[in-house]
Amino acid sequence: MFEALPDAKPDAILALMQEFRADTRTNKLDLGVGVYKDGEGKTPVMKAIKSAESKLIDTQETKAYVAPTGSAPFCSAMIDLVFGADADKTRIRAAQSVGGSGALRVLADLMRRSRPDAKIWVSDPSWPNHIPLLGAAGFELARYPYYDVNTGKADIDAIIGSLSTAASGDIVVLHGCCHNPTGADLSQDDWNKIIDVMLEKELFPFVDIAYQGFGKGLEEDAMGVRLLAERMPELVVAASCSKNVGLYRERVGAAIVMGRNEAEATRAFGSLTTVIRSNYSMPPDHGANATEIVLTDGALNTQWREELESMRVRMVGLRKTFSDAMRKRSNSDRFDYIAEQNGMFSRLPLTPAQIDTLRNDHAIYIVGDGRINVAGLPEGSIDELADAICNVIAESEQS
Ligand code: LMR
Repeated sequence: MFEALPDAKPDAILALMQEFRADTRTNKLDLGVGVYKDGEGKTPVMKAIKSAESKLIDTQETKAYVAPTGSAPFCSAMIDLVFGADADKTRIRAAQSVGGSGALRVLADLMRRSRPDAKIWVSDPSWPNHIPLLGAAGFELARYPYYDVNTGKADIDAIIGSLSTAASGDIVVLHGCCHNPTGADLSQDDWNKIIDVMLEKELFPFVDIAYQGFGKGLEEDAMGVRLLAERMPELVVAASCSKNVGLYRERVGAAIVMGRNEAEATRAFGSLTTVIRSNYSMPPDHGANATEIVLTDGALNTQWREELESMRVRMVGLRKTFSDAMRKRSNSDRFDYIAEQNGMFSRLPLTPAQIDTLRNDHAIYIVGDGRINVAGLPEGSIDELADAICNVIAESEQS
C-alpha cells in the first residue's frame, strides 16, 4: 500500500518546534512557532477561559452531537467579533471550524466546488502552510509580492501591480491583520487600493484572520475585513481562536461566508455544511463552548478583553525594547522597522547560515526565513540576544 508514497517534506515551523523540544541546552530560546508567551516563557491558559471551562464542566449535561456547523450562538458571536456588532447578518453565515486552518480548508473546498478553474493568489511571503493547505484543496496557486525589505512595510505598488494581472473570478488570500511572517500590515489606504483592484478585476477576497487583537486592538485589527464587507459584494473569512483566546490545541475557529444576498448566503452555508459533513462530520465542542461563554458572558468577556489587551501591550513593548537594543548593538537604524510592525512576527534579515549558527552555537531558534516570534523575546536578556544576533551577522559579513 504505502510503497508509492513520496518521502514527506517536514513543515518548517513544526520541524523547528520538535528540534527545540529535543534540545537539552538549558539556555535555549524559542523564537519559532507562533505561540504567545508570558514573561516567564510560558503559555498559560487565559484566566477567563479557565473560568469558562469550570462553568462548562459544572453545567454541561450532555456530550451528544451538536451539528456539522457547530454551535449557532458561538458562530453568531464570532460574526460579531470579526464583522462588528452592526454587520448585516442577513447575508453572513458562519460554521464553527477545527481551528483557523480547518476554516481555511473547508472554505477552500467550498470555493473549489463553485469555481474549480479559479487561481488562488497568496502573498509572497506568507504562512508556509497556506501553500500545501490550499494546494490540497486542488487550487492552482499564484503569488503576489507583498513585502518591501528596505522599508519593513507592505509594498502596495507591487501588490496592486501583481493583482492587476489576475483573471476575473480568481481568489485572493489576504491576511486580516498581523501579517505572518512579516508583521507588515496594510493601511486603510492600502486596503482601499486593493479593494479597487478587486472590484475592477472581479476578484474574490478570502481573508485569513488569525491574530485579531494582537496588532492594534480587537476592533482596529478587523478594519480590513470590515472595509471588504462594506465595499465588496461577497467574501469569505477564516477566523482563528488559537491566539486571541489562547486555545491552540483545542482547535477553535470559524469559517464565515458573506453572500451577495440572503439567498446566496443560505446556499453557500448549505454547501459548507455538506463539505464539513463529508470531511470530519462535526467539529469538537469543548474549546468552542468555552469561547462561546467568554464571548457572551459580560464579566468574562471583559476579563478576556483585558487579558488580551495586556498581551498585546506586552508585545508592543517587547518590539520597542528589541528594536532599541538592535539599534544600539548594530549602530544603525536598519532594525527600527521592528517597532513599527504588528502582532507576533517580524522578519530579521538573516541568511540561512546565520540562522544555523544562532541555533547551533547560541541555542536561539529562529524560523528559516528569519521570522521571529516577538512574544518569545526574553524580557530580561534582550541586550544579550541583540549582541548574539549582531555578532553572528558581523562575523559572517567579515568572513
Ligand atoms: C505559526 O505560524 O507559527 C503558527 O500559526 C503555528 C502553525 O501552525 O504554523
